[in-house]
Amino acid sequence: MTDKTVSMYWELLNLCEDFLDSGYLTEHGRAPSLPGLQPLKTGDAGHRTAKLEELHETILECTACGLYEGRNLTVPGEGVTEPVVFVIGEGPGADEDRTGRPFVGKAGRYLDKWLDAIGLSRNTNCFIGNIVKCRPPGNRDPLPDESSACLPYLQKQVELLRPKVILSLGRIATQILTKRTEGITALRGKTYRFMDLPLIPTYHPSGVLRNPEYRAPVWDDLKRLEALLHE
Ligand code: URA
Repeated sequence: MTDKTVSMYWELLNLCEDFLDSGYLTEHGRAPSLPGLQPLKTGDAGHRTAKLEELHETILECTACGLYEGRNLTVPGEGVTEPVVFVIGEGPGADEDRTGRPFVGKAGRYLDKWLDAIGLSRNTNCFIGNIVKCRPPGNRDPLPDESSACLPYLQKQVELLRPKVILSLGRIATQILTKRTEGITALRGKTYRFMDLPLIPTYHPSGVLRNPEYRAPVWDDLKRLEALLHE
């Protein structure tokens, strides 16, 4: 598939997204395929899975900041235990708080389509998590003490999952992981490092649903991510 076809496909996908206000598009072609993209083979997957399960048990019971008081369920994250990409969002919303799973609402379904467009998925080669694991009331931004209290969990996840690349979604996640203060428009387009791993920032899917002009830059970021995975 040529670059032009892939861009047309991306545009079509976004048009369908607008058309189907449900936000969900059923089976579509995959573009482009990523031959050779396999979970990293390190030989200690069983051990890592056990450690990750243990960590997630701890997160489920966490009371380290005030967010636990208003939560229904904590949302530790989900995906494969040997991911090539660790996708990091801001924090659970209402759907995530209800189900205990990350990115399952409209923004999550849109995110799944982005990943699918470059051969990625939480079922095969990604892990999806958030800066804070409990829903901030009314979907407000997490407060600095809340993200600081939760950050050790994320660091432990990165240590255990050892992804090849981190994809940060939106201003909050990107500012916290890069320790920078600019907005997402200024931060995206470059590669940073978090715990010695390459980090590519892009807009948050909720922001792109509200601002269609962010679609083209997101597609550029996804293509850069794809290229980095092939290096
Ligand atoms: N937005 C986020 O940042 N994370 C989720 O899990 C869902 C929506």
